[in-house]
Amino acid sequence: MKHTLIQELHLSLTNDVPSISPKFFYDDIGSHLFDVITLLKEYYPTRTEQWIMDTFQGAITDAIGPCEVLLDLGAGNCVKASRLFNSIKPKQYRALDISKEYLEAAVADLQKQFPHIAMSAQAIDLSLPLVFPDISELRKIFFFPGSSIGNYDPEKADQFFANIAHECHGNGGLLIGVDLVKDLETLHLAYNDPLGVTSSFNLNILLNVNRILGSNFNLRDWEHCAFFNESQSRIEMHLRARANVEVNLPGSNARDHVIRFKAGDLIHTENSYKYTQDGFTEKLRRAGFENIHAWTDPKKHFLVCFANAKK
Ligand code: AVJ
Repeated sequence: MKHTLIQELHLSLTNDVPSISPKFFYDDIGSHLFDVITLLKEYYPTRTEQWIMDTFQGAITDAIGPCEVLLDLGAGNCVKASRLFNSIKPKQYRALDISKEYLEAAVADLQKQFPHIAMSAQAIDLSLPLVFPDISELRKIFFFPGSSIGNYDPEKADQFFANIAHECHGNGGLLIGVDLVKDLETLHLAYNDPLGVTSSFNLNILLNVNRILGSNFNLRDWEHCAFFNESQSRIEMHLRARANVEVNLPGSNARDHVIRFKAGDLIHTENSYKYTQDGFTEKLRRAGFENIHAWTDPKKHFLVCFANAKK
């Protein structure tokens, strides 16, 4: 594991408000648990986004125009992007994600199905600035589906959009899916499914942290907690200590290499921001996009946008 990730975890866990970045959800088990989440009837985002993409495929394709390189940000199993290949017809496909092995296997598989598209896989941390010097001349379409943008604080999202608009060099754009603000019950259920998959997904982050740090979080000491914070317009996920707990953190500067939690203490694991359609398109505009197209479902649960980088 990279040294910087270890340091990042030490810092965030020993902070006044302890937290673990949601990027640590996606180890092997976490990636599979997330796939199961997307199958739950309570978790509407994935299937609603797919419905929008299928229903408005023609209009989306027209809005995008020619695509020399399709850049898939947070590609995962590459399935969502591959569904666009026949309509968008990219000459090149670049899959970017944090987990290298998983990504390379998925791209190798896809390359067999689409031999005429030049493909590559690149392991990157999407929370860092992106640069693509070797393809600066080509018309790039960035693809960021699934409301992954929801994990970024609003200011961070602004920077991310500005980064992408800039990397388009006046030629290209961003195809993005984002979750919308809606009634509290629908939001709450999507992150508190009765089968407990989201709870397992949340708890599993501690197993990944144990593996990375050699710590000894005991899952029995923690419980899943998720709620909608209305003033911040975000779902927050936390892990709540069920009793007083001590956790060994080998190699940390914490006194005795131990961190102590009192019963009821929280570790913040995720924010999932929800936007309004107008708020979101305005954000894209401010970051350097123009001619913004938006598609949604009849209940207005989810939004797909294509935004052109300003010339
Ligand atoms: C992948 C970040 C879009 O915020 O809905 C699902 C992750 N967390 N259930 C989301 C998630 C709990 C998901 N994103």
